Amino acid sequence: MNVRNILIGGCALFAFQLYAQQPVYMDKNKSLDERVEDALGRMTLEEKIAVIHAQSKFSSPGVPRLGIPGLWTTDGPHGIRPEVLWDEWDQAGWTNDSCFAFPALTCLAATWNTDLSYLYGKSIGEEARYRNKDVLLGPGVNICRTPLNGRNFEYMGEDPYLSAKMVVPYVQGVQKNGVAVCVKHYAVNNNEFKRHTTNAILSDRALYEIYLPAFKAAVQEGGAWTIMGGYNLYDGEHCCHNKRLLVDILRGEWGFDGAVVSDWGGTHDTGQAIRNGLDLEFGSWTNGLSSGTSNAYDNYFMAYPYLKMIREGKVGTEELDQKVRNVLRLIFRTSMNADKPFGAMNSAEHVSTGRMIGEEGIVLLKNQDGILPIDADKAKRILVVGENAVKMMTVGGGSSSLKVKYEMSPLDGLRKRFGGKVQIDYARGYVGDTSGEYNGVVSGQNLEDSRSEEELIAEALDMADGADYVIFVGGLNKSAGQDCEDSDRSGLQLPYSQDKVITELAKVNKKLVVVNISGNAVAMPWIDKVPAVLQGWYLGSEAGNALASVLAGDANPSGKLPFTFPVALEDVGAHKVGEYWGNVPGYESRNDTIDTAYKDDIFVGYRWTDKEKIKPLFPFGHGLSYTSFSYGGVSTDRKTMAPSDTLAVSVKVKNIGTRAGKEAVQLYVRDKKASLPRPVKELKGFKKVHLLPGEEKTVSFRIDKSALSFFDGEKHEWVLEPGAFEALVGSSSGDIRGKVTFEVE
Ligand code: BGC
Repeated sequence: MNVRNILIGGCALFAFQLYAQQPVYMDKNKSLDERVEDALGRMTLEEKIAVIHAQSKFSSPGVPRLGIPGLWTTDGPHGIRPEVLWDEWDQAGWTNDSCFAFPALTCLAATWNTDLSYLYGKSIGEEARYRNKDVLLGPGVNICRTPLNGRNFEYMGEDPYLSAKMVVPYVQGVQKNGVAVCVKHYAVNNNEFKRHTTNAILSDRALYEIYLPAFKAAVQEGGAWTIMGGYNLYDGEHCCHNKRLLVDILRGEWGFDGAVVSDWGGTHDTGQAIRNGLDLEFGSWTNGLSSGTSNAYDNYFMAYPYLKMIREGKVGTEELDQKVRNVLRLIFRTSMNADKPFGAMNSAEHVSTGRMIGEEGIVLLKNQDGILPIDADKAKRILVVGENAVKMMTVGGGSSSLKVKYEMSPLDGLRKRFGGKVQIDYARGYVGDTSGEYNGVVSGQNLEDSRSEEELIAEALDMADGADYVIFVGGLNKSAGQDCEDSDRSGLQLPYSQDKVITELAKVNKKLVVVNISGNAVAMPWIDKVPAVLQGWYLGSEAGNALASVLAGDANPSGKLPFTFPVALEDVGAHKVGEYWGNVPGYESRNDTIDTAYKDDIFVGYRWTDKEKIKPLFPFGHGLSYTSFSYGGVSTDRKTMAPSDTLAVSVKVKNIGTRAGKEAVQLYVRDKKASLPRPVKELKGFKKVHLLPGEEKTVSFRIDKSALSFFDGEKHEWVLEPGAFEALVGSSSGDIRGKVTFEVE
């Protein structure tokens, strides 16, 4: 053996000894539980307290002495928020944190395409990873109970089944990157108006059938690593430390093994936070913080106040250890995960994913006489009207506001697509909200226009005369009182006199297309006068390209509404029977807790319009295509089923038009006779199929007792009553093409 070999051998032995001495918590080959217990055993009381609350606006510390890294969180849910200062909401002024903006979650839900949901999660997870974030504050899955809720655009619609199916792949896609999702806002957080003092009161049946399924699926099927408590109260207790929601349901019934994160400033009481399952406190507005004390985070409910209670013997350390375990598990899964990929930002794949989701999520609501797609060979001049054709939509809306690398506006998208061949003119039409700033990120657009309403309309009408198409791009925006956090809309109508502009335009040009940019349903009193309407959502960086591609027919629209468009607010259960207080005089000035009884119970969205036999403006699941699909008869593989059986439902769907297209085929189930009121029908399956012209495919669904049961609040269990059921298959909840009856024994 020569000296060289001896040296090599010695080094190897030394390295092996080092490795062997590696503490268990650092050894990725050990189980999570072993690592957690080992780390916990080495931590001091002060270190344990430190890891359960924030150290800055968006981060929490690890255990520096032990080399355990902290956690960096980021909004969410449509792109990675720019860096802010340590203690402030203001921008840190970095120049390398401009992200790619994906379409809003309403648009994702409107694709009815679970593969795209996975791709969305994977891509946004990569962006988070590249920016060294460990926890993505999203997705949001609160149910759209009222179209006035300012945050519906961050959620996945009105139906528990659709949102549950769509959220699972998103979660899996994100977490593949070693980045945790933080599913929000758990739970029954259905309005922004008085969001800190709204106390939701509802039946267990409504809770379990409508408001919880998407959260449950994210936890049990998606394997979500964190969940965020809502700002509101449920049954008298704030959701961030609500025993029923967090201890009984989330941990007890669903077996959640992740960490519960408070919403920013959603913690209100140390005792409740200790007992009721909160693990990580963020964003509390303590006196210390507002007066700028440097270590203000020590004043958090789960900081010194907690430590003091332990030192004074008022509480033990059992709950603390459990919280620390949950946080350590999160750290090992994310920031201390040595196997995670590196991520990517603004990659070509992210761009194409964003565009694809936009194209598939845009909903063609109306297309009379097939005026769309635009025939670029025949059109000579297109007039584009409306503020939303030019306004940046990625800045604003609250915490989901972004600093993007680019955002293609609808006008630029149309110019890019048709430019050269077709003359594209633009008229403002109306002035909405000219601001474009959020926490120091500025859109940089100057949208000021001092002309009067009459002057703006006159200009648009003048230019509309003789145009081959007029494309009005309006809707809502991300300013307070529109689609924006911390406020609700005041009504269903479009703001800024847009109804008037549209009505006048319809008089002078028959080829009028209205593109509604919003995350909520809006009233359309002019619908009979306008031949074509598109629901355009907030489409992110690729907005203009996705819209132009659908308008031009490069992409055949296949989006379907994830919520009902009612004609009027009275057609919404929450408004008709209550309770919702946002637009009720006298409530604006209240600072006390506001009880909000969900008297609409399980009858949310189409469940309400079906029950009341109300014809909506556009039903849940509605969306047209440039081709058409015929449906064959619906059949089942058996006529009767035992509760333990599954039943296959099949239907043949054929593309009978001349273009390739996709159809989201929907399966609803109806209980023909029940011992209690049940919805007329409920979505229990959907599949998106791609069909070439003339092509036919058999679409099959499988249902089991979970699709047929209701939640019995008294027995606290899901109940399947024997008897006759119907499987209804259709193109929307308002367009059922076939049905078949079967018996449950
Ligand atoms: C919002 C959350 C968000 C958090 C951090 C809160 O105001 O409700 O959704 O994740 O701020 O920005």
